[in-house]
Amino acid sequence: MKFLSIEESNSHELESLLHLAAEMKSTRGTHPNQPLAGQTWALIFTKASTRTRVSFEVGIRELGGNVMFLSKNDIQLGRGEPIKDTARVLGRMVHGAVIRTFAQQDVEDFYSYSGIPTVNALTDEEHPCQILADLLTIREKLGTWEGKKIVFIGDGDNNMSRSWMWAAKYLGFQFVVAAPESCLPPKEFMDRLDASNVTLTTDPATAARDADVINTDVWLSMGQEGQDEKEALFGDYQVNSELLSHCADKHIVLHCLPAYRGKEITEEILEAHADTVFQQAENRLHAQKAVLATLVE
Ligand code: CP
Ligand code: NVA
Repeated sequence: MKFLSIEESNSHELESLLHLAAEMKSTRGTHPNQPLAGQTWALIFTKASTRTRVSFEVGIRELGGNVMFLSKNDIQLGRGEPIKDTARVLGRMVHGAVIRTFAQQDVEDFYSYSGIPTVNALTDEEHPCQILADLLTIREKLGTWEGKKIVFIGDGDNNMSRSWMWAAKYLGFQFVVAAPESCLPPKEFMDRLDASNVTLTTDPATAARDADVINTDVWLSMGQEGQDEKEALFGDYQVNSELLSHCADKHIVLHCLPAYRGKEITEEILEAHADTVFQQAENRLHAQKAVLATLVE
């Protein structure tokens, strides 16, 4: 009934969602069943979005449902109405909710108070739907993640890196986070993660050595705009041709997008790997349709 984090997922659920995502992709436009028929889903977003909003709107419609997009400025949430009251109202009217916001607790509270299927469409803590799309892309491009070295370069303590670390714990691949010291995940998080296959370093070249997958994300996440001092820490953490010279021959590059060319990745490398990066973006649609169909089973 909920998909709020990779942390609270497990290897069986991830495998089963990815299997269904691949099936959704190969049968797009021809699936006979419409699991959301007769349902209306709300998309409640307090942060900007291109990929997530469009992929959920299209996906819900393709599964037979209706969808309403509610930015925080459209509803009383933006004027301070508590999430628990918003949840108790919407829970009586719509059949499911997809939420993009700041605090993880808000999506947890929405689910508890609404009692309807709820999906995390990005919080400061996690971006679980993106990780499903990324894993699907790795499977399509490399066949498997088993035995692969997957590296995250950038802000090691953001929603993407955290969701990736949980995926590594459950799926068992080697995962390395390379970030400036103050942007590595704190000890409290690593103790909770408790995964010996996840390692941290401040040296991007060491991390990239023999890597099969290089993954990056913006240096400043939504809500951190204007933090120039933080951004200045990332000069050595750009995904560029020099960094990729350390990787395995058949490496791929992932970026959840939006990309800031000249910052976390060069124009040259983003364009050289555009086939993978935009396949990754497309896979949001298929992965999320698998999540939605599973939640209403
Ligand atoms: N990757 C991602 O979530 O993109 P949007 O912010 O455009 O939804
Ligand atoms: N870490 C980024 C991801 C954007 C999809 C952010 O939260 O802004």
